[in-house]
Amino acid sequence: MTETLILRELLAAEPGWVSGGAIATKLGVSRVSVWHQMEKLRAQGFEFEAQPARGYRLAGRPRMLHAALIESQLKIRRKGFTFTVMEEVDSTNDECARQLAAGRSAPFAVFALRQTKGRGRFGRAWHSEANGNLYASFAFRPRIAPERMQTFTLWMGVTICELVSRFVPVTPGVKWPNDIVFDGRKAGGMLTEARVDADQIRDLVFGLGLNVNSSAGQWPSDLGRRAVSLSELAGAPVDLNRLTAALIGRVLLAYERFAEREHFDQFAELWNKYDVLRGREITLAEGSRRRRGKVLGVDDVGSLLLRDDHGRTRGFRAGEVTVENRG
Ligand code: BTN
Repeated sequence: MTETLILRELLAAEPGWVSGGAIATKLGVSRVSVWHQMEKLRAQGFEFEAQPARGYRLAGRPRMLHAALIESQLKIRRKGFTFTVMEEVDSTNDECARQLAAGRSAPFAVFALRQTKGRGRFGRAWHSEANGNLYASFAFRPRIAPERMQTFTLWMGVTICELVSRFVPVTPGVKWPNDIVFDGRKAGGMLTEARVDADQIRDLVFGLGLNVNSSAGQWPSDLGRRAVSLSELAGAPVDLNRLTAALIGRVLLAYERFAEREHFDQFAELWNKYDVLRGREITLAEGSRRRRGKVLGVDDVGSLLLRDDHGRTRGFRAGEVTVENRG
């Protein structure tokens, strides 16, 4: 707690200095205690410049996720929200599900430096090394109808686009239903999972894997051509802790809007802005079935609207999209 407050003071003063005495007075602790906390932070990868006449200045910070550094950069505090940063976990989605089942009060989030069994859609593995990328899951107890889950993911998708567009100079897109893409290359994937009870969603887990700081050379070769990271697009490392703090703010706000059904107008506007499939000729694979058609958009429940060559339009709830080159 004290370390979060110290970091907040140093970040607020950046690139300037703060005196140890001023921090101690503000926090109501002794100067020795401030010094001790700063030594602990040094051991965790922080660098501080110290000058007797001026005090301290933040000179370097860890590149990996750090709980106090995230906490100190949260703009809005949401009552009851907590989060955990783990070194390693099988899957942050699974960890959230376990903690929900064990009674941890929601909303909460779990972040991990690496996952040993990161999962994507269709049970595929999600490459999850400790390479400066983001593995995040948010847990909620929403009491909403299960059919609203698809729109929830789409709404979160545009929310993530709004966030990442603040960190890179290129416009992101959402590829229905769960990919965050840049010019056809995947930068992130979402996995929403729920426990349904008596026709209501009781436990909802929203998982996000985002390629933040990995470089092309770090991907397995089959992924290399299809994946891209934010740092590659930005041409410089992206501050993972600042991004995570901003993500928390946006996801919690988006969730509240969704739960209160206040998202409709904004969703329509943002979906038009970020949808990369509208007007494209695609193939939708549903198990072994293949359907071709032109994408018209999404309907009220988040189904993909596809017009076939006979002019018939149908909505599809699931499937994997491949964009055709024509059109
Ligand atoms: C996809 O594109 O198929 C979805 C990928 C979702 C990956 C994230 S990483 C954090 C969370 N934990 C998981 O095991 N999966 C999601």
